[in-house]
Amino acid sequence: MFKVFVLLCTCWCLIKLSFEHCEESNINFVSVILTCVNGTQSFPNTTKTVLMLRCLDCNIPLLDEKTILKKFDGDAFNMSNSHVQVISAGAFKQFRRSMRRFLFQNNEVNYIAPKTFSNFTILEEINFRNCRIAQLEPDVFNGTTTTHLDLSQNLLTNISKTLDGLKVLMLNLSSNRIKNIPEDSFDKVTFNLGRFYTEFSVLDLSNNVIQRIYPNTFKTPERTNSIVMLTLSKNLITTIESKTFLKTPFLRILVLNQNLISQLATDSFKGLTNLVSLDLQRNHIQKIPTSLFADLQKLEFLDLSQNYLTAIDSTTFSGLINLKGLNMSHNNLKTFDDVQLFPLVGLISLDISDVRIHTINLKSILQHHWRLKILVLNDNFWTCKQLTKMYKQLSRQFNGFNFPAQHFDVSNLHGIACSKDELKSYDTLTFDDFYNIIAQESIDPNSFIDDDLPINKIMENVIKNIAIVKSMSIIIAIVLIVLFLQFIVRSILMCLKQYNIVNKTKFSFFYNQDQDTVKVLP
Ligand SMILES: *[C@@H]1O[C@H](CO)[C@@H](O)[C@H](O)[C@H]1NC(C)=O
Ligand SMILES: *[C@@H]1O[C@H](CO)[C@@H](O)[C@H](O)[C@H]1NC(C)=O
Ligand SMILES: *[C@@H]1O[C@H](CO)[C@@H](O)[C@H](O)[C@H]1NC(C)=O
Ligand SMILES: *[C@@H]1O[C@H](CO)[C@@H](O)[C@H](O)[C@H]1NC(C)=O
Ligand SMILES: *[C@@H]1O[C@H](CO)[C@@H](O)[C@H](O)[C@H]1NC(C)=O
Ligand SMILES: *[C@@H]1O[C@H](CO)[C@@H](O)[C@H](O)[C@H]1NC(C)=O
Ligand SMILES: *[C@@H]1O[C@H](CO)[C@@H](O)[C@H](O)[C@H]1NC(C)=O
Ligand SMILES: *[C@@H]1O[C@H](CO)[C@@H](O)[C@H](O)[C@H]1NC(C)=O
Repeated sequence: MFKVFVLLCTCWCLIKLSFEHCEESNINFVSVILTCVNGTQSFPNTTKTVLMLRCLDCNIPLLDEKTILKKFDGDAFNMSNSHVQVISAGAFKQFRRSMRRFLFQNNEVNYIAPKTFSNFTILEEINFRNCRIAQLEPDVFNGTTTTHLDLSQNLLTNISKTLDGLKVLMLNLSSNRIKNIPEDSFDKVTFNLGRFYTEFSVLDLSNNVIQRIYPNTFKTPERTNSIVMLTLSKNLITTIESKTFLKTPFLRILVLNQNLISQLATDSFKGLTNLVSLDLQRNHIQKIPTSLFADLQKLEFLDLSQNYLTAIDSTTFSGLINLKGLNMSHNNLKTFDDVQLFPLVGLISLDISDVRIHTINLKSILQHHWRLKILVLNDNFWTCKQLTKMYKQLSRQFNGFNFPAQHFDVSNLHGIACSKDELKSYDTLTFDDFYNIIAQESIDPNSFIDDDLPINKIMENVIKNIAIVKSMSIIIAIVLIVLFLQFIVRSILMCLKQYNIVNKTKFSFFYNQDQDTVKVLP
C-alpha cells in the first residue's frame, strides 16, 4: 500500500517537474491559458496553443528561439515582472504578425536585438518601462511600427541613432539619464502611423538631465510627420536658443516647465505658428524679450507662473490675439499696468496672485477684457478697503473672487489677506513678510469700509430698491391674474356659443358685447 503511494507521489512529482512552475488551464481542447509562477527558467513544451500567458514573478532571464513559449498565439505577450534580461534575435519569430502588445514592464532588460519588433504590422504597444536599458543598438527599432513605445524609467544616456527607422505616435523617454540629444536624433523617426490624416503624436523627454536643445532637433516639416505634443519638463535646460523651433510649425503643445530657463531670445519661439499651449511654469525667467510671442497667434494658454519676472511692458504680449488663459502668478512684478494686457483681446482667465503688487486698475481691466471670467488676485499687498472695492466690481461681472486663498486667520475678505492701512513701503517685501506684518494687526471691521460710498447709504439704496421692486411685482401680478381670468371666461363663452350649449344648460348667460362683462345667474 505504502509502496503504491510512494510510486504515485513520484509520478505526480515528475509530471509536475516537467511543467516546472507553469500551469495550464483549458479554454477548449486545443487552447489554454498558461500561468507561470516563481522560478521558471524556460517555458514548458506544451502541445496545446497558448492564447494567454500569465507570468507571476517568472524568472526567465533570456528570451530566445529556444526558451520562448513555442505555441503562443495570443495578441498580447505580457512578461511584466519576470526578471527578463536579454531579448535575443528571433525570439518572437514564431509569433503571429498581428500581435498587438509586448509588455515588459519592471524587468531587468538591458539588451534588445535589432529589428526584434519589425515584422509586426499593427502593434499598439511596446512597453519597457522600468527596466535597465542603458544603451540600445543602432538598428533596434528600424522598421518597427507601433502606436506606443514606452522606454521610460530606464538608464538611457545616448539616444543617437537608436530610434532610426521607427514609426510611432507616443514615444516615452521620460525618467532616463539623457543629457545630450544630438540634432539628428529624431530625423529618421516618423511620428505618424499613416492610419489617419492627422494623428496626435507625443514625445515625452521629461525628467532627464538635458541641458541644451540644439536648434532644429525637433524639426518636423510635414503635417503628416509631426510632433504634436513635446514635453521637456524637469530637465536642466537654461536657454532656449534663437530659432530652436523654427522648423516645428505643427507643434501644438510645448511643455518646458521645471527647468532652469533664464535666457530667451527674441526668436526662441519663432515658427511655432500652430502652438496652442506653452508651459513655462517654474523656471528662472526674469525678462521677456520684445516680440518673443509674435509668431504665436494661435496660442490659447500661456503659463509663466513661478518665475522671476520683474517687468512686463505693453509689447510683451503682442501677437497673442487668441490667448484665453494667462497665468503669471508667483512672480516679482511689483507694478502692474493694464496697458500691458491690451494685446490680449480674448482673455478669459488671468491669474496674478502673488506678484507683489499693491495697486491695480481693475475698472480698466474689466472694461478692456469683457470676456474675462476668471481673475485671481490672491496674495498681493492689498488694503482691506481696496479689496472691498474690488469685490464689488468683480461681483458685478462674476461671482466675487475666483479661487481665493484661505487666509482666515488674518484680516481678510473671503480668505484674501489684506492690511488695515497702506504700508509705508512695499519694496523688497514678499508675501510672507506682508502676511507676518498683518498677522500682528488686530482685525478691524471698519478697515473694510469703502469711503467712496458709505455703507449706510448703500444699504438704504438697496432697501429702497427692494421695496420698489416688491410693490411693482405685486401690481404686475394682479394685472396678469385679471387678464388671465377674463381670457378664460371669454374662451368658455365662445365655446358654449359655438356649440349652442348655452341654451341647454340650466344656467343662463348674458353676454353684453358693449360692456364686455359677464353675468352668471343660477
Ligand atoms: C516568488 O518568490 C519570492 C521569494 O523567492 C517571493 O518574495 C515572491 O512573493 C514569490 N512570488 C510569487 C508570485 O509567488
Ligand atoms: C522542448 O523541446 C525541444 C525540442 O523540440 C527540446 O530541445 C527542449 O529541451 C524541450 N524543453 C523542455 C523544457 O522540455
Ligand atoms: C501583465 O501582467 C501583470 C502581472 O505580471 C499584470 O499585473 C498586468 O495587468 C498585465 N497586463 C496586461 C495588459 O494584461
Ligand atoms: C521577419 O520576416 C522575414 C521574412 O518573413 C524573416 O526572414 C525575418 O527573419 C523576420 N525577422 C524577425 C526579426 O523575426
Ligand atoms: C511616460 O511615462 C511616465 C512613467 O514612466 C508617465 O508618468 C508619463 O505620463 C508618460 N508620458 C506620457 C506622455 O504618457
Ligand atoms: C552615442 O551613440 C552613438 C552610436 O551608438 C556613438 O556614435 C556616439 O559616440 C555615442 N555618444 C556618446 C557621447 O557616447
Ligand atoms: C533600416 O534597415 C534597412 C535594411 O533592413 C537599411 O537599408 C536602412 O538603412 C535602415 N534604416 C535606418 C534608418 O537605419
Ligand atoms: C497658475 O499656476 C499656479 C501654479 O504655478 C497654479 O497653482 C494655479 O492654479 C494656476 N492658476 C490657474 C487659474 O489655473
